[in-house]
Amino acid sequence: MTKPIIRIENLTIGYDYPLLSKINFNINPGEIVAITGTSGLGKTTLLRTIAGLIPKLSGKIYSDVRRRGGMGYIPQRLGLVRHASVYHNVELGARCGVKVNSESGNLFNWSKRKSVVIRQSVEQVGLSDKINEPIRRLSGGQQRRVATARAIAQNPELVLADEFLSELDKENADLIISLVKEYVENSKCGMLFVEHNVERAEQIADRIIDLSEFEEAVNAEE
Ligand SMILES: Nc1ncnc2c1ncn2[C@@H]1O[C@H](COP(=O)(O)OP(=O)(O)O)[C@@H](O)[C@H]1O
Ligand SMILES: [Mg+2]
Repeated sequence: MTKPIIRIENLTIGYDYPLLSKINFNINPGEIVAITGTSGLGKTTLLRTIAGLIPKLSGKIYSDVRRRGGMGYIPQRLGLVRHASVYHNVELGARCGVKVNSESGNLFNWSKRKSVVIRQSVEQVGLSDKINEPIRRLSGGQQRRVATARAIAQNPELVLADEFLSELDKENADLIISLVKEYVENSKCGMLFVEHNVERAEQIADRIIDLSEFEEAVNAEE
C-alpha cells in the first residue's frame, strides 16, 4: 500500500469555537481532492490549518511534508507583493523549493538553477512576456497565474489551493487546470483544492469531499 501524503484523523478546526469536527481523509500520491461547501463553512480555515497557518483544535494531521517545507499554498487572497515583479514574486516560492544537492551544492549553481526554475514556472503559466512587470499592472486572472507559478516553483509535495480558479475566464481556467494536473501527475504529489463550483470540482478532482458532512458533527455535539 502506498503511504498517503497526508492523513487527517478526527480533526476539529475553528477559532475560539469549533467550526467543523471529525474530519477524516487521506490524500495519496498523484491524487487530486476537491473540497466543496457553501460560503462561510470553513473551507479556507481547513486549508490554513493543514498549511500550519492556524492551530487545529483537536485531532491529528499526519504528514512529513510540512516539516520539509513541501507545501505549495495558493491562498484565496493571493498575498503577492504588488510593487514587485512577477519574477520576484515567483522567486519567493523558489527560494525554499530548490533542492541543494551534492552536484549543485555551491551557491552559484544554486542561484542559476533557481533562475531556471523561476523562468520555467512563469513560462508554464503563459506569462513570460510579463516576467518583469510589477504585479499591480496585471489583471486579476494574471495575478492568479503568478500565484500558481509561485506554488509550482516551490516543487511542492502537496499543493493546497483556495478557489484558485476564480476570476479566470474559461480559457485561462483550462490552462491552469491542465498545468496543475500535469504537475500532480508527473511529480506524484498530492493536491487539495477548495472549489465552491461543484461542476468545476468534478472536472478536476479524482474525489470530492463535501465539508457540510462535518458540520453535522459539530452541531450534534452541542
Ligand atoms: N480569524 C478568524 N477568527 C474568527 N473567525 C474567523 C476567522 N476567519 C474566519 N472566521 C470565520 O470562520 C467561518 C469560516 O470561514 P472560512 O473558512 O473563510 O469559510 P469558507 O472559506 O468556507 O467560505 C466564517 O464564519 C468566518 O467568519
Ligand atoms: Mg474561503
